[in-house]
Amino acid sequence: MTQRSSNSRWKNRQKRDPYVRRAQTEGWRSRAVYKLEEIHGKDAILKPGAVVFDLGAAPGGWSQYAVTMVQPHGRVIAVDLLSIEPLAGVEFIQGDFSERAVLDRVLGLVDGADVHLVMSDMAPNISGNRSVDQPRCMYLAELALDFAGRVLGPNGHFVTKLFQGAGFEALVADARKRFGDVSIRKPRASRRGSRETYLVARNFRL
Ligand SMILES: C[S@@+](CC[C@H](N)C(=O)[O-])C[C@H]1O[C@@H](n2cnc3c(N)ncnc32)[C@H](O)[C@@H]1O
Repeated sequence: MTQRSSNSRWKNRQKRDPYVRRAQTEGWRSRAVYKLEEIHGKDAILKPGAVVFDLGAAPGGWSQYAVTMVQPHGRVIAVDLLSIEPLAGVEFIQGDFSERAVLDRVLGLVDGADVHLVMSDMAPNISGNRSVDQPRCMYLAELALDFAGRVLGPNGHFVTKLFQGAGFEALVADARKRFGDVSIRKPRASRRGSRETYLVARNFRL
C-alpha cells in the first residue's frame, strides 16, 4: 500500500469513528481518552493528589483526563517524541524515552518522590511488517515497566499498551512478579481487529 492510500484510509476511518467524533464534541484531544476512562472505571488507578507519569502522551488525551482526576494537589508528567499543545497542570518533556538523557531529565523531575501511576500508551510508527513492529512495541512496553520499577511507590500502579504476539506472555509474567494484581484489558475504544491490549498492574511490591 502506498503512503498516500494508507493516509486516506486513515482519514476515512477517523471520519466514521464514533469515538473521534465524541472526543471532538467533548473537548478531548484524542479518542484514546476513552480507553483510559474505561480502564480507570474498572481498575481505579487514578486518585486525587497522585503523581502520574504519562509516557507517549501526544496529543494529550490521557494527560488531560489524568489531570482532572489528580487535581488539585497531584502532578501529571508527560513525555513524548512529539510536541504537544500546552495543557494546564501538565509538565511536559519532549524527547525519546529510550534515551538516557531524557530518562535522567524525567527522573530529575520527581527526585525520589513516590509515584502512584506510570501509564504508557507509547507506540512506534507501525510499518505493517509484524516481525519488525512487534519487537519495537515490546521494547517500549519493557522500557515503561523498567521505569515503573524504578519510580513507583508501594502499591503504585502501572498501565501499558501491549500488543499480542512474541514477548507478550513473558512481559505479563514479569509484571506478575512485581505487582499484586495484573489484568489484561481490551477497552471498547481499542479497535476490534487490532492486537492492541492494555496490561493493568496494580499494587506494586517494593
Ligand atoms: C497512541 S499515541 C498516544 C496517545 C495518547 N495516549 C493520547 O491520549 O493522546 C502514541 C505516542 O507514543 C509516542 N512515542 C513512541 N515512541 C516513543 C518514544 N520512544 N519516546 C517517547 N514517545 C514515544 C508517539 O510519538 C505517539 O505520540
